[in-house]
Amino acid sequence: MNTMSDILTDLTDGICTITLNRVEKKNAFTQTMYSSCAQALEEAATNAAVRVVLLQGDVGVFSAGNDIADFLANPPASTDAPVFRFLRALVAFPKPLLAAVCGPAVGIGTTLLLHCDLVYAGDNAAFSMPFVNLGLCPEAGSSLLVPQLMGMHRAAEALLMGEPFFAEAALEVGLVNRVVPPTEANGYAQAQARKLAAKPLSSLVETKRLLKGGQQAALLARIEEEAHSFARMLREPAAKEAFTAFMDKRHPDFSKL
Ligand code: COA
Repeated sequence: MNTMSDILTDLTDGICTITLNRVEKKNAFTQTMYSSCAQALEEAATNAAVRVVLLQGDVGVFSAGNDIADFLANPPASTDAPVFRFLRALVAFPKPLLAAVCGPAVGIGTTLLLHCDLVYAGDNAAFSMPFVNLGLCPEAGSSLLVPQLMGMHRAAEALLMGEPFFAEAALEVGLVNRVVPPTEANGYAQAQARKLAAKPLSSLVETKRLLKGGQQAALLARIEEEAHSFARMLREPAAKEAFTAFMDKRHPDFSKL
């Protein structure tokens, strides 16, 4: 077992398990966590001993998205920022990538799932992409992948309203493969990962490459386009009001914006 700041990694029987381990802050991603997750994925991609990766959180929370304080102190200044290194590692990851999600999955806590191959959810999972409510725009390629997954109207509901949707709805739109009791989610995903790890890796890798259908370049271009808008919007009054309101524990007031 390796501890890399607020993530834990474990490699057992071909399965690399990455656990978000900052539960006291609802597994909100700091720059360090993005870098650690990127590094873990980059190493797993090239390490012949790794056949499958499982990304998991806690039984009560998957992730509250970007750590707002850290994000304000270190806004992603360019596409070299840790969050983009993490996204590139996710998009390029050649082996099966599984996720187990319980409790809130906010922002990147939901959008990173769009890059996973299999997702298992606890029945307490709550997914949300509240970028509009933060004065921002979609990230992580979600403006491309969410409409592809859900259709345009449901994508508009998820991305314009930004309200949470729950495990059964996520199952219905195909964001998750199966809903289980929260205490069973990580174990169920681990059992599925064991089944995959017993299969020929070359077939898994080739099948995943074909499934992704050559969309990688378009996806990376969309991530970059979103990143430019996101960085600009982060400096504008709506985002400033949203983040200040979160830090002050009050509702934001967008009435004049
Ligand atoms: N960034 C920084 N800190 C965060 C955080 C985030 N995204 N999400 C939660 N935290 C912190 C809280 O400030 C609180 O810290 P404190 O104990 O020092 O006051 C702690 O984590 C617990 O959060 P709390 O809000 O009390 O938990 P909850 O169970 O009531 O609600 C959430 C959980 C995830 C629904 C809620 O925390 C939330 O909405 N977080 C913000 C999500 C967000 O907007 N993310 C940004 C996406 S770009």
